[in-house]
Amino acid sequence: MTKSKDHWFDAARFGMFIHWGVYALPGRGEWVKSSEKISEQDYEKYVTYFNPDLFNPKEWASLAKATGMRYFVITAKHHDGFCLWDTKFTDYNAVNAPQCGRDLLREIIDAFRAEGLKVGIYYSLPDWHQPNYVIDARHPLSGDNKEALLKQPIERLPELYTQFLHNQIEELLTLYGKIDLLWFDGAYPETEKYWDSGKLAARIRKLQPDILINRLPGFSDFESPEQSIPDKHFCTESSKVLSWEGCQVFSAGNWGFSHDQQVHKSPQEVIEMLIKHVSRGGNMLLNVGPTSRGCLDNQTVKILTDIAEWMRWHSRSIHKCTMAPENFPEPEGVRYTWNPDAKSLYLHFLNWPDRRIFLENLGTKIDFAQLLCDGTEIQLSEHNPHNINGAKIPRSNCLLKLPVARPNTLVPVIELHLKKE
Ligand code: GLC
Repeated sequence: MTKSKDHWFDAARFGMFIHWGVYALPGRGEWVKSSEKISEQDYEKYVTYFNPDLFNPKEWASLAKATGMRYFVITAKHHDGFCLWDTKFTDYNAVNAPQCGRDLLREIIDAFRAEGLKVGIYYSLPDWHQPNYVIDARHPLSGDNKEALLKQPIERLPELYTQFLHNQIEELLTLYGKIDLLWFDGAYPETEKYWDSGKLAARIRKLQPDILINRLPGFSDFESPEQSIPDKHFCTESSKVLSWEGCQVFSAGNWGFSHDQQVHKSPQEVIEMLIKHVSRGGNMLLNVGPTSRGCLDNQTVKILTDIAEWMRWHSRSIHKCTMAPENFPEPEGVRYTWNPDAKSLYLHFLNWPDRRIFLENLGTKIDFAQLLCDGTEIQLSEHNPHNINGAKIPRSNCLLKLPVARPNTLVPVIELHLKKE
């Protein structure tokens, strides 16, 4: 799909990823069924005792909105195959879970849509519950056969699984109104041939013509690095700039709720990650893993609240922004973002310099400079501080005079309004 220049996805820059399912109950991550080789029968306990009695997606949605997130992606079905929605293609779903009994997906979509966020659905291509899904090296039933299964997965009735998958996608794209993003996952090389992705992509685009597709083999509208941030923006061989989204966790690895692996990154580190994504022309999809009781744990709420406070003052340097033009090199310890329509350049300080900072190639271009947190003017100096009575610095460069005290915010930002030539 060719996206227009002003597509919502590229302006949004910040989204919430939600990994939620019955795997929140063991609290050992969303891969627990595979990593601990849990049998179908033993895993059933988690369905039986899944009781989201504190579930209130309006709280998640209003926190996401306050944090400046413009879209969200929810795991309608992860690899364990448990479906959060009222699907007619399997009984293995939230409506049938005895202590749940409701269409969780519908309530989540309604709550986020009401806050004005774009709607994204994550759907796992692998499904460890469906009897026709192939047994590959990651399947909970792989036993000691890993090596052999890597080369030759056990084919059950893959065409039946493919049909099931296509049916479920059709259902998701017809029952819940406009879906803005469909996020596939788990197209491991040894099973890629089973998805019939060409046919599926055509059906998806027919049902939802404006939708963005991610990670369906052969069909991805953007790049999606995982738990890493590229040093440069993505582009094609012919230098066409590509959209991208990095998906990130707070902790060391798991996406689903993990009791022993809660928040390790500080709010400041997460904000710096967000800035790095935007400064390289990408979005950040920040993951949360709600508990089995249906709420966000206190540490997650705390970190998001701190980000929300920063975003309240600084969202102008994030939304609708992208990487700066190449002729404005970033000084050490500073990351630029750039709003091409407003012609504003944002300087994010990873550390606060002593009284001044030297900027290359901006000497004749700045109309006005200010601190973003409180609007205070930042003055320019034409003189080299080491030689006040001597030579001026070259006209093409400049010095900004900085307040001695570091602004009291997690990451200080200066906004440069450039002259509209
Ligand atoms: C990895 C994980 C998977 C998670 C995904 C999110 O592929 O294995 O569980 O859903 O990342 O991008």
